[in-house]
Amino acid sequence: MQIVFATNNLNKLSEIRALLPSGIEILGLKDINCKEELPETHPTLEGNALQKARYVFENYGFNCFADDTGLEIDALGGEPGVYSARYAGEYCNAEDNMQKVLDKLHGTQNRTANFKTVIALIIDGVENLFQGECKGDITNIRCGAEGFGYDPIFIPHTFDKTFAEMTKQEKGLISHRGKAVKKLLEFLSTD
Ligand code: IMP
Repeated sequence: MQIVFATNNLNKLSEIRALLPSGIEILGLKDINCKEELPETHPTLEGNALQKARYVFENYGFNCFADDTGLEIDALGGEPGVYSARYAGEYCNAEDNMQKVLDKLHGTQNRTANFKTVIALIIDGVENLFQGECKGDITNIRCGAEGFGYDPIFIPHTFDKTFAEMTKQEKGLISHRGKAVKKLLEFLSTD
């Protein structure tokens, strides 16, 4: 089965490919010649994931799925949440976002946070949503060089290292996206 993962994020593509059984081939947006930025204007993770998947299905005609992820930090009232990608501003990068989180949490004892991923799947026009969460703590400093985004400052509960200190496979077994992908794969294999 061929299915498009509607993302330009090469890290996400390789994370998901590391979790897939043989028999499912994941195409990226480059593979279908989709070069534009996908719209992502909803105020919820569910809305954004559906918006991206619908865009690819309606404009390119491929069965596809899209994800949207947010980091919800308790002491910040759930921020950055759906605004995780541009937390430090329109043209910010992952370093800027992490620095903003560390600055805002400076001196704060409560470091608990939750990563949440929603995957929207469209097969022949039929839509399904899958969700995965991973609870953990925000560190005081960045640790590790693997992964992407906020990985260097997030330690999942019951672990003593950040996502950025794990291999893709290790992270995939416990991560928000890994759990959502597991549900997606179970659905695809019974479909
Ligand atoms: P999006 O799902 O690509 O919109 O991600 C929103 C923001 O969360 C971006 O800044 C990503 O870098 C970050 N992000 C998404 N997934 C992860 C993850 O697994 N680890 C760390 N950061 C992530």
